[in-house]
Amino acid sequence: MGTAIIVLAAGKGTRMHSDRPKVLHKLAGAPLLYHAMRAGELIAAERTVVVVGHAASDVQAAALNFTEEALVVEQAEQLGTAHAVLQAAPALEGFEGEAIVLYGDTPFIAAATLEEMLGLRAAGHDIVVLGFRAAEPGRYGRLITADGRLEAIIEATDATPDQLEINLCNSGVVCADAQRLLDLAGRVDNQNRSGEFYLTDIVAIARAEGLRAAVHICEEEETLGVNSRGDLAEAEAVFQARARADAMEAGVTLAEPSSVYFAYDTVIGRDVEIGPNVVFGPEVTIETGAEIRAFSHLEGCHVAEGAVIGPFARLRPGTDVGEDARVGNFVEVKAATLGRGAKVNHLSYIGDATIGERTNIGAGTITCNYDGVFKHRTEIGEGAFVGSNAALVAPVQIGDGAVIGSGSVVTEDVAEGDLALARGRQVAKGGRGREMMAKLRAQKAKGNKA
Ligand code: UD1
Ligand code: CA
Repeated sequence: MGTAIIVLAAGKGTRMHSDRPKVLHKLAGAPLLYHAMRAGELIAAERTVVVVGHAASDVQAAALNFTEEALVVEQAEQLGTAHAVLQAAPALEGFEGEAIVLYGDTPFIAAATLEEMLGLRAAGHDIVVLGFRAAEPGRYGRLITADGRLEAIIEATDATPDQLEINLCNSGVVCADAQRLLDLAGRVDNQNRSGEFYLTDIVAIARAEGLRAAVHICEEEETLGVNSRGDLAEAEAVFQARARADAMEAGVTLAEPSSVYFAYDTVIGRDVEIGPNVVFGPEVTIETGAEIRAFSHLEGCHVAEGAVIGPFARLRPGTDVGEDARVGNFVEVKAATLGRGAKVNHLSYIGDATIGERTNIGAGTITCNYDGVFKHRTEIGEGAFVGSNAALVAPVQIGDGAVIGSGSVVTEDVAEGDLALARGRQVAKGGRGREMMAKLRAQKAKGNKA
């Protein structure tokens, strides 16, 4: 039986003091919303329902950008979490399986935790709530338990002083049969201090009918929700600390862990070595045994086994670096494929290009890919040699084994094996260097300016 996730993302996030909806603020290079959606992806959820409200069209666009299969429903007025869940009804019509409610502003819920909750469901509990022991229970809903069973959830504003003493709190994540969840949510009223339809009330309703409810307890850190810019910065620190620890645990060497920044989806193979001050933007995969040297910035790229990147390299989206290839200092690569063993070692811009195996690109070479309106491609074959400071004016093709003289401005295709020289011919004027210098020095001795 499948699972659906319902991500609540209709709230405004007033305390962010922002024109942007809270769930679109970025954590580890991606909107907060993606983090909750990724948890669903990791448990192979069959349906992903996202409840939008505030700045609905922007949040909807982000949800669909994460996966075109997201089912986006609108909650025009934010009347409470039960009301929000009810909006998912049309998207879950005919769906038989589990539903898990997640919040768009709570990015750290682990897939393993959701699996454990599903395990409790399979063991016969009708509702499974994710709880945690709060250091400061404050505004959190309190979990009322008896003999290890969950009896009710009481919101802090409605709690008695005794109930406020309880430190077992509601994370907001709840799992139940999808149709049962909708049924229970539909029976919640808003007779409480805040006049909201509380999803948390479903526990007491279910218990009154003899259904079984259970709590699964996780670490407080996992339930961290983002409500302010301070929370966002704290969440970033938590994310990075975990990502660094996970990378090292998976066999990645980090010379100075605290200076390496990962994105939410960075994938790094075993025995990769990463120097200090390396930043990964979204969508980066680094294969086994590659080396990323200090001060490199990578996003949207793939680096194959044994390749060496940096120091001071910049790999932009669409870059694919082949096995044992090299991208050296002050080199920028964008939308380009470097074949196995290709080298671009110094001070180059390689954009919209294909570079064949073992080809060497000399220092300072630029692919001139932009004519001011359109982008064009540069294609270079295998085993070619491009001399230093060449300007390759795209569209242009350079064949296998071709050689380009340094300083050339290449505007026409170069055939396989040819030598292309596209620069002014050198002229030598006998003795003129020495004569010229003597004349200038004499002028200076007379006090004349140039
Ligand atoms: C909720 C829980 C509380 C729990 C806490 C954990 C309820 C009634 N209370 O309280 O027990 O301890 O989360 O953080 O569920 N949302 C909508 N539409 C709405 C209302 C909320 O989409 O009509 C979204 C918000 O954008 C947010 C999430 O649901 O992402 C939680 O809502 P919020 O108002 O922050 O709930 P809390 O008061 O924090
Ligand atoms: Ca909240």
